Amino acid sequence: MAAAVRVGFVGAGKMAQALARGFLAAGLTKGSNIVASCPPQDEHLLKEFQALGAQTTHSNASVAQQCDVVVLAVKPHVMPAVLDDMRASVTSGHVVLSIAAGVSVQSIEDRLEPGCRVLRAMPNTAVQVRCGASVLVRGTSATDEDARTTSALLRAVGSCDLVAEQLVDAVTALSACGPAYLYVAAEAMADGAVKMGVPRDLAQRLAAQTVAGAGRMAVESGRHPAQLKEDVMTPGGCTAAAIHRLEDFRFRAALMGAVEAATLHNRRA
Ligand SMILES: NC(=O)c1ccc[n+]([C@@H]2O[C@H](COP(=O)([O-])OP(=O)(O)OC[C@H]3O[C@@H](n4cnc5c(N)ncnc54)[C@H](OP(=O)(O)O)[C@@H]3O)[C@@H](O)[C@H]2O)c1
Repeated sequence: MAAAVRVGFVGAGKMAQALARGFLAAGLTKGSNIVASCPPQDEHLLKEFQALGAQTTHSNASVAQQCDVVVLAVKPHVMPAVLDDMRASVTSGHVVLSIAAGVSVQSIEDRLEPGCRVLRAMPNTAVQVRCGASVLVRGTSATDEDARTTSALLRAVGSCDLVAEQLVDAVTALSACGPAYLYVAAEAMADGAVKMGVPRDLAQRLAAQTVAGAGRMAVESGRHPAQLKEDVMTPGGCTAAAIHRLEDFRFRAALMGAVEAATLHNRRA
């Protein structure tokens, strides 16, 4: 499939751009095979796509007419109107891939013609650097081939696991929201270092590289995070003193609560 797959993005915001950049970096498609749409007031977003060599339009229907895979990358609250607008142009010849948080496969299928091949993915912003963590859910009419095609797109920009839909809200809270938790941690760690006299630029670079390196070690080693922590936390050492301080502030409980809060927020949406 590679560079021949024609990928359309309905919604040209952060996630659409991150995915498009990732697909291009992976050589999965080429700029001229990408089409993106968004409302006229967001012309600046379409310029980002034009810079990638993509075609742009204000017509969501036109995206479907020109593409094999249609990625629905709009905010959840506009999804019903977008689907109603596209219903006549989406056929069983398309693969429809929604990345909208909290929007079920069935609610998408219900607004399209019967037989439309719908899948739901939950990626994160790290797809832009091909280090994303995505999950994929198959809709009623999506074929094995559709699951392979969309998995291949998502694997080209990180990892992709096929999951049951009831897990998606919790997965969203973990891996789609997760980068934000880690950015808060990186920012706070750098602030701590600045407080102790480290220049801001250096503190920021070290914090970012620390998050990146720790993540890579966790992924590549497959070891339990507690074991990796023990490698750093020598008896009587400074890491142990720091971890004790984190426990005082219920760091783990805060993170568990964050994932729970985001899951419940998604379930209520
Ligand atoms: N950000 C994340 O980390 C993340 C991770 C996983 C999944 N997601 C999901 O990805 C989706 C997109 O999120 P995002 O962060 O990329 O949001 P975003 O940057 O706001 O992008 C959404 C884009 O869709 C446009 N849009 C609004 N109405 C439209 C319409 N009728 N037709 C076509 N385009 C329309 C928006 O324009 P206006 O600004 O003018 O409304 C905006 O440019 C969301 O459903 C979100 O749940 C996000």
